[in-house]
Order: sequence, then structure tokens, then C-alpha cells
Amino acid sequence: MPIVRFEQDGREWIAEVEPGESLLEAARRVEAPVQTLCNGIGACVQCRVRVIDGMERLSTPGSLERDRIGNIFHITGERMGCQARVHGDVTIEVLRARLPRRSRRSKRR
Ligand code: FES
Repeated sequence: MPIVRFEQDGREWIAEVEPGESLLEAARRVEAPVQTLCNGIGACVQCRVRVIDGMERLSTPGSLERDRIGNIFHITGERMGCQARVHGDVTIEVLRARLPRRSRRSKRR
């Protein structure tokens, strides 16, 4: 079974996954800090991760993922944890969540 290694700030979480399982599902199982606000439906983009090794062993980004993070994932190495499916061993950097900017209206208060 494929192994997913999650890393953040010198910490490490290792998950053994079923082929086709998402990175977010694997992270949840081992309590790696991949964030989500939408519970994995592809709406929040808080689950962004950076692939350190094994991009070719993840599913190809679909149209939803390309719409959300752009077509330069092969340059940035970024993927959405809820969309990327695991088909072999990969090493993943868990990125810090980017919180939505406050709206102009809320800044006036
Ligand atoms: S968990 Fe919300 S977009 Fe991936």
C-alpha cells in the first residue's frame, strides 16, 4: 500500500493509504494538520499542500482543482489535498492555511 509522508516545521506524520484515497483523508487519519473549511468538497482551498516528492504518483488535477489553484501546479508543486488521489508513495509539505481577507466593509467597523 502507498505511503504518504506529511511534513511541517520538522514534524512528520506517516500514513499508509488505500490506492485512490485522497491526501486529505490520509491526513485526517494520522492527524496531520491539513486544513479544511468545506469538509473536502473542493470549495475552500484551505487544504493546499506542496508535493515534495511523487507528483507523478498522484491523480492528475481535474477541472475543479485547476480552476481553484491554476494550471501552474507543476511549477508550484501545489495540490488540493481533498482532490489529489494517491497512487504511490509521496512526500507532502503541509502548508499554513491562508485565511480569507477581511472585506472592506468589516474593516470600517
Ligand atoms: S478541503 Fe476545501 S477545498 Fe479541499
